[in-house]
Amino acid sequence: MNETAESDTPTLSPQLATAVIDPGSYAEWNGLLDTFDHIRDTMPVARVDLADGGFDPFWLVTRYEDVMRISKDNATFLNNPRPVVLSTREAIEFSLKVTGSKMLVDSLVVFDAPIHPKYRRLTQDWFMPKNLRKMEEEIGAIAKATVDRLAEAGGEADFVPLVSAPYPLHVVMQILGVPEEDEQRMLFLTQQMFGGQDEDLSGSGMKDMTPEQITQIVAGAVADFEAYFAKMAADRRANPTDDVASVIANATVDGEPLNDRDMAGYYIIVASAGHDTTSASTAGAMMALAQDPEQFARVKADRDLLPGIVEEAIRWTTPVQHFMRTAAEDTEIAGQKIAKDDWLMINYVAANHDPAQFENPRKFDAARSPNRHAAFGAGAHQCLGLHLARLEMRILFNELLDRIETIELAGEPKRARSTFVGGLKTLPVRYTLS
Ligand code: HEM
Repeated sequence: MNETAESDTPTLSPQLATAVIDPGSYAEWNGLLDTFDHIRDTMPVARVDLADGGFDPFWLVTRYEDVMRISKDNATFLNNPRPVVLSTREAIEFSLKVTGSKMLVDSLVVFDAPIHPKYRRLTQDWFMPKNLRKMEEEIGAIAKATVDRLAEAGGEADFVPLVSAPYPLHVVMQILGVPEEDEQRMLFLTQQMFGGQDEDLSGSGMKDMTPEQITQIVAGAVADFEAYFAKMAADRRANPTDDVASVIANATVDGEPLNDRDMAGYYIIVASAGHDTTSASTAGAMMALAQDPEQFARVKADRDLLPGIVEEAIRWTTPVQHFMRTAAEDTEIAGQKIAKDDWLMINYVAANHDPAQFENPRKFDAARSPNRHAAFGAGAHQCLGLHLARLEMRILFNELLDRIETIELAGEPKRARSTFVGGLKTLPVRYTLS
């Protein structure tokens, strides 16, 4: 960020800037949307510069039009060299110490051209609807087993731990070819890796540890991941199947197979991008339907409405709340000068609630059309798994709508505290079966 910024630079007040960077504000959804409405109206490209916030200054972009323009202009707005997710200076230093890189994992989402398209091409076809069709039966069986668990729970349950969290996790692990007995280990490793920055994280045992101890644990988790996937890759080279693990294991870039770090990065981005996100939109869709029995009955009777419900749930929940970009050159957004190397937050929550693009944006409207939301991003990095996410949700809701007669909230849903991937962490529901 240009330290000699002009005095008329539109800068958020400390109170608003804190609301944008504080994970706690993302748990208070309506308040957060009020904040973004205010910022979008008054300062659509706003500088966030909190001297004691622990972050380098950045520009917050809140209008749909600007978020889409930046997302599509991958030559001017890079995913590297600054971190692609809002990270404190401390976290960046930590990661540099553990891995020699700003992000703990180097993967598709942190590569720019010319490397990015080479890596993206490797699995792009696999994630296309034509190929995914062969997964429908397998995903259907996972959906059925998941809804069986809900049915067995006897009429009242927390939808998140029982349904919306385990379902996409299991699907993505199947896709990666991680055997069921290793799923918990994969989860544990992810928690260890990302727990270094999250003191609320349970199960990692990282609270009250010295930075050196945490560094050691995280470095160990990274090494474990690489070893696990190197072994899996060796197996898939010897015995290729039609899963993503085989595609990655047998892929070459510029004539060379991927090295262990790149391979692990690829597996980890698919594994991590593929579950919390779909879990959040699934739980959000269920909440919307539980709050609106008339809409629930309508879609139960007419499944042609389901794709619209799925799309609206993804917009309405916006599971990935932001990504960051770095300006490759001096440029301008909506009249605001941006200097080369400036860091920008494209905020998908704010974009998806921009009244200039979406009429009555806070309303969950299954009939919304068109619904060109920003939740999957746009441009070269647009979500690789978007067809899979939609397919998973459609299959699960078809099963749920077959088996559930009525559903209502049985307590107050609670959202996670997170500036990056957010969503419900509890959704108590009461239901009757068909
Ligand atoms: C990238 C959202 C599900 C894999 C992204 C991006 C967003 C996003 C916003 C970044 C786009 C950009 O920078 O322009 C979502 C949402 C999901 C979802 C809202 C669910 C509702 C999935 C699933 C998978 C997946 C199921 C795979 C199993 C990826 C990957 C990338 C990505 C690999 C990086 C693509 C690249 O940089 O080229 N996703 N995602 N996502 N997503 Fe998703």
